[in-house]
Amino acid sequence: MKLLLTGGNGQLGTELYATATAAGHEVRATDRTDCDITDPARVRQVLAETAPDALVNCAAWTRVDAAEADADDAFRINALGARVLASACAARSVLIVHMSTDYVFGGDAATPIDEWQPAHPRSVYGASKLAGEVEVRNVAPRHKIVRTSWLYGRDGPNFVLAMLRARHQGRALRVVSDQVGGPTWTGHLAPALLRLISRDLPGTYHLSNSGAVSWHGFAEAIFAAAGGSPGVTAIPTSEYPAAALRPAYSVLDNRVWRLLGEAPLPHWRDALHEYLHRLRAQGMLGA
Ligand SMILES: NC(=O)c1ccc[n+]([C@@H]2O[C@H](COP(=O)([O-])OP(=O)(O)OC[C@H]3O[C@@H](n4cnc5c(N)ncnc54)[C@H](OP(=O)(O)O)[C@@H]3O)[C@@H](O)[C@H]2O)c1
Repeated sequence: MKLLLTGGNGQLGTELYATATAAGHEVRATDRTDCDITDPARVRQVLAETAPDALVNCAAWTRVDAAEADADDAFRINALGARVLASACAARSVLIVHMSTDYVFGGDAATPIDEWQPAHPRSVYGASKLAGEVEVRNVAPRHKIVRTSWLYGRDGPNFVLAMLRARHQGRALRVVSDQVGGPTWTGHLAPALLRLISRDLPGTYHLSNSGAVSWHGFAEAIFAAAGGSPGVTAIPTSEYPAAALRPAYSVLDNRVWRLLGEAPLPHWRDALHEYLHRLRAQGMLGA
């Protein structure tokens, strides 16, 4: 299979490139300088040059809080960029796999949220990502929209690396305990995406590691697995002011994946252990 990646130097793009090339696929990974997804002419040119079987859009504005003050930039990349890619893919009948987020949901749910639940974003970032989904659905008949959650990969920035940095600096931490989600490691998401691409069924998919945890619970698990903790105090969201509202509960039920008979992604705890093991093996984590 020949794949074209946009946002190829981000957390997911880097992992997907490594996983897909290791699996024997031909992959062209582009970054913003090579292929700005908001530039229609450049996107059409790259697509024509590459003639891929599928384009995977890993490019996004991912700075959740900054989007509140910079809505136009977030929408330019997450919504307009999605339209540009979807339109170019539709013109050539290329499958577009478009990444989205649990932050399209409002956080009112109390049980895992499946693909058929209505979205209701509470932040500019979530709204811009939902707008991108709508663009891809409306413009590209051959599409797969994949929502994932609380993503972390090798280079970050992400929550796990931030916690490890705090641990290294011996800083005591206060972490919110009333936001619950599904941490997802790119190392498990990337192979699932390749599997998904090989299945001939368009539409919206949830793909996240199994299980659920609060940010506080996740922080404690990170410190326990890394071998020691500077202390993590649980606090409510009201004591951690941030520009963007986050959903209180955004655990994704990977229902479509399950109904198709696919194996669930591993539990987030196992994912965390594998991730830390990999960082250690790469010399990126002390013993
Ligand atoms: N991170 C999470 O916790 C999380 C959770 C759920 C869903 N997601 C979704 O998963 C996907 C991948 O996230 P990620 O964590 O891998 O993101 P990331 O590490 O922030 O990578 C995003 C990449 O997009 C690139 N980019 C930004 N604007 C671009 C443009 N106009 N043209 C081309 N490239 C552009 C960035 O390049 P520059 O470095 O040059 O800006 C960056 O390399 C995104 O759709 C995100 O919304 C992420």
